[in-house]
Amino acid sequence: MTLQTPQVSRTFRVGGDIEVHRLGFGAMRITGKGVWGPPPDRDAALRVLRRLPELGVDFIDTADSYGPDVSEQLIREALHPYEGLLIATKGGLTRGGPDQWTPNGRPDYLIGQARGSLRKLGLERIDLWQLHRIDPKVPREEQFGAIRSMLDEGIVRHVGLSEVSIDDIDAARRVFPVATVQNRYNLADRASEDVLDHCESLGIGFIPWFPLAAGRLARAGSPLDDAARRHQASPGQIALAWLLRRSPVMLPIPGTGDMQHLEQNMQAASIALSDDEFESIERDARDA
Ligand SMILES: NC(=O)c1ccc[n+]([C@@H]2O[C@H](COP(=O)([O-])OP(=O)(O)OC[C@H]3O[C@@H](n4cnc5c(N)ncnc54)[C@H](OP(=O)(O)O)[C@@H]3O)[C@@H](O)[C@H]2O)c1
Repeated sequence: MTLQTPQVSRTFRVGGDIEVHRLGFGAMRITGKGVWGPPPDRDAALRVLRRLPELGVDFIDTADSYGPDVSEQLIREALHPYEGLLIATKGGLTRGGPDQWTPNGRPDYLIGQARGSLRKLGLERIDLWQLHRIDPKVPREEQFGAIRSMLDEGIVRHVGLSEVSIDDIDAARRVFPVATVQNRYNLADRASEDVLDHCESLGIGFIPWFPLAAGRLARAGSPLDDAARRHQASPGQIALAWLLRRSPVMLPIPGTGDMQHLEQNMQAASIALSDDEFESIERDARDA
């Protein structure tokens, strides 16, 4: 594992040309329970979204399936025409109801969904479109071929993958340049460590979803408490600062529908952990 200097860059160039601050926002939590339907307080969700540029957030992650449609529609209502913002969306998961997610990787479906995201977001081109899941029922090369055609047609500018292995990434790279990979990863869940290292070696952005383990890492009473006290920060802020320190290609997207949580999370970008702290936090989390 590479140790970065505390001065590691606060920004990353997605696809080599769209520079964003590395601490972004995940827009899955601005929908209803089970990521289904509208949020309980629509105005509050819009306020959270409108606060993002004021806090310096310029990278927003969403998906056609969040709601479905609700997250993309709220983002458009709050932030269109997105000056200086990278709106990254995804396709490839269908929804049957709350908490139900089923992959559909048929090429015509993927292309149709990307076109639908264009319309909902009010864009002529999606700057970063991600394949939400590789559908095991469809040969992956067919799914990659659909993505290649979206790039060729200019519907999308850069593309990413989600929940993939090193082998998937390398197979995709034979068909198109992979700009980002979005896998579950946080201080307490390091199953994708090898994928992160692979991304770092290739300059591919790594988007760790579940960066706060759905809020578990933001609670007191964890191995993060000591560092939190030292930095006069919250445990969740330390968990995010640790991620940012872990790799220069790391692009965490903590999700929240709560203004206070949002403001707290974004302050994590200004916490600099020393080498010793970085290592001891990791050790304590492993032993916990
Ligand atoms: N590619 C994929 O398959 C995939 C899967 C899941 C998610 N994602 C993306 O990744 C993003 C992040 O993942 P996630 O939302 O599942 O997990 P997360 O960011 O680890 O956790 C979000 C949860 O933590 C709570 N939380 C956030 N900030 C907090 C704070 N400061 N203090 C206390 N609690 C806090 C939120 O509740 P409140 O709303 O109450 O703050 C929410 O329930 C999503 O928004 C989505 O864009 C991608």
